[in-house]
Amino acid sequence: MSKSPIRVAVTGAAGQITYSLLFRIASGAMFGPDQPVILQLIEVPVEKAMKALEGVAMELDDCAFPLLKGMVLTDDPRVGFKDANWSLLVGAKPRGPGMERADLLKDNGKIFISQGKIIDEVAAEDARVAVVGNPANTNCMIAASQAKRLPAERFTAMVRLDQNRAQAQLAKKAGVDLTTVKNIFIYGNHSPTMFPAFGHATIGGKPATEVITDSAWLQGPYCETVGKRGAAIIAARGLSSAASAANALIDHVRDLTTPGAIHSIAVKSNGLYGFDASVWAGMPVRTTTPGSYEVITGYTMDDFAKSKIAATNKELVEERAAVADML
Ligand code: NAD
Ligand code: LMR
Repeated sequence: MSKSPIRVAVTGAAGQITYSLLFRIASGAMFGPDQPVILQLIEVPVEKAMKALEGVAMELDDCAFPLLKGMVLTDDPRVGFKDANWSLLVGAKPRGPGMERADLLKDNGKIFISQGKIIDEVAAEDARVAVVGNPANTNCMIAASQAKRLPAERFTAMVRLDQNRAQAQLAKKAGVDLTTVKNIFIYGNHSPTMFPAFGHATIGGKPATEVITDSAWLQGPYCETVGKRGAAIIAARGLSSAASAANALIDHVRDLTTPGAIHSIAVKSNGLYGFDASVWAGMPVRTTTPGSYEVITGYTMDDFAKSKIAATNKELVEERAAVADML
């Protein structure tokens, strides 16, 4: 028997990232080749944005995706999030050259107050939320803080782009196929302070630190390249990453709906790995049932790892203080 469609709300639906994202959701890359979807596409109430959204919808029609069972185009979040099983919060301002993601906090943070509230009121009973708009961890915390019905675990933020970047960098350094690089996890903030932990990573089944013995490279250029990759892309392209961000969101949600998958997502830390209990921090998780996860605990951290985690935690706590009035 064929499955009934799920409702996927996407904000920023006429933006750069979503232009790479929506077609892949409709093709089955996010929820599987047998899961029909209804896309609920949300933009700002600005004529240019809504007109552009109509164009995107025309192109989605023109792909004749068998799994795409309907589309809602709206500038009203109450309509867009209605009965949504998944809400993908992409819509927000991107940073430009010379900015840090935290510089977006005051502008973007307020978007997530109202969206968190409305999702809590109108989304489906099993609603899940994934936040991409920057600064993603803190925006996710803001959205979750508005919810009375949905538990905090339903709100996750994306650090998967960082995990994918880290995997690619390690594979390149080791000169191996990247599929042999495993157990790469991102701890902390989606910002240059993040810690792309290598201590528990494996390459071809061996500890990564036995394959890449240059610990100065691992602690220095590797962490720096992954942490500052977003800025490097902005400097090169003049625009922030889009296709790779969309791809990472596909990975984030696909793994979060695949029981047994092990991956990094930013979640309410509850004090694990030494993070402040109330911040959203990247951590390793194992998906339990579709949309739910348990944090993988018990990875031991050496002094270097502990200092990296302390630094990224400090930044998350500072971001939290900067938006205290929005919580
Ligand atoms: P963009 O400017 O191309 O598109 C953003 C879209 O969001 C625009 O069409 C805008 O009209 C819309 N929008 C703004 N506020 C909205 C609201 N309240 N409701 C609905 N739509 C709204 O930007 P982009 O390049 O697609 O990036 C989007 C966000 O994702 C940025 O904040 C960017 O920094 C972030 N980002 C995060 C990651 C990550 O790894 N977490 C990676 C890349 C980009
Ligand atoms: C990225 O990591 O590419 C995004 O968060 C965009 C940015 O501002 O760096």
